Amino acid sequence: MTDGLARDAFPALARVHNGHPVAYFDGPGGTQVPRAVADAVADYLLHHNATARWATPTSRETDAVIAGARAAAADLLGARPEEIVFGHNMTTLAFHLSRALGRALPAGPGEGRPLQAGDEVVVTELDHHANVAPWQALADERGAVLRTARMDAATGTLDWAHFASLLGPRTRLVAVNAACNALGTVTDVARAAGPARHVGALVFVDAVHWAPHALIDVGTLARAGVDFLACSPYKFYGPHAGILWGRAELFAALDVPRVAPSPDTVPERVETGTRNHEALAGTTAAIDFLASLGGGDPAEPRRTRLARGYARIHAAEQALVARMWDGLRAVAGVTVYGPPPDLPRTPTVSFTVAGRHPRDVVAAAAAEGVFLSHGDFYAATVAERYGVRVGGGFVRAGAACYTSADEVDRLVAAARRSAQDA
Ligand SMILES: Cc1ncc(COP(=O)(O)O)c(C=O)c1O
Repeated sequence: MTDGLARDAFPALARVHNGHPVAYFDGPGGTQVPRAVADAVADYLLHHNATARWATPTSRETDAVIAGARAAAADLLGARPEEIVFGHNMTTLAFHLSRALGRALPAGPGEGRPLQAGDEVVVTELDHHANVAPWQALADERGAVLRTARMDAATGTLDWAHFASLLGPRTRLVAVNAACNALGTVTDVARAAGPARHVGALVFVDAVHWAPHALIDVGTLARAGVDFLACSPYKFYGPHAGILWGRAELFAALDVPRVAPSPDTVPERVETGTRNHEALAGTTAAIDFLASLGGGDPAEPRRTRLARGYARIHAAEQALVARMWDGLRAVAGVTVYGPPPDLPRTPTVSFTVAGRHPRDVVAAAAAEGVFLSHGDFYAATVAERYGVRVGGGFVRAGAACYTSADEVDRLVAAARRSAQDA
């Protein structure tokens, strides 16, 4: 039985709706936030607010907040601080990177020249369109061809044979997600990156839906062929912001659009304008929260504590996803999508209820204090492949560290009532 981890840390869990304690299954859209994260945001704004790089105490404190967030994000990803770029969100960072690649490829057979006609870019059907649109725009603008690797609808996983068939000497970029936000599918990005690097392509990984559930090690991924990876702190208990990891030499070589007087050093040269300092303060607090789940001596390296924290999250979430999957599948009229719990997956399960619009299922569950989400979640091609897009998409339930087995049972009961009322 899973009681949920660190529930006391989350003030939002005290919310009561229609007399029911709220169970938040909307985490794949953005998790709830521990008090320490909100406190760090408020503390920055109330006591340290300034522009960076000036000779005032508050400005120096702001510099320290930025440096602290880079160090924390580096610990989270197994990276070096100079490989961490902050931005508004993953989508903005991906569009920024795509613009730079349209001006000049920083590595590979096309190094130093823009993407051009005859070049090819590979994306996948499993992707959130934030990991499609930037590369589609890049291909369209440069006259390159966008190819889309199919998913296997029976298992909700990547069709590896089709993916491999799309790679060739013209492939310049491969964009793939590590976890699908609609189905929970975890894709072995190292398996995708190896062949991509072999043909000289750059590899971009969307880790937005993966980062809350698994400890990422960009060192291992880089050796496998990954060049860039993005995630978003608001999906792992932090504030709304985006993180882009990239190899420092690639960040140095990128022809990014820049404001000339701004620093041309790595990683600052890849960032645009004033950073969201308060979100960075909160991001550090969120990463420290994840590390705190690992327990032990706070003097131990943060990465070590993060590894233990994620191990606890993983164990709890795997138990929850099996309970969710089995519970929902047993309800007559409910169809679940994506890989079964014995395949690599996150604790995010999408389903439909026969005869009920997903929005109505979510509204009915919300009335019982069970907060879900509905739609295509911008994984629009996934919803299309299952033929549910026109009918309002999926109902999505995502467990987070704070989710309890009791809450999963309430979710299943809410789905059952929806199916009975259909
Ligand atoms: C898998 C995935 N990729 C990308 C995004 C977009 O992230 P952001 O909102 O940080 O731009 C999301 C957001 O839901 C997502 O789930």
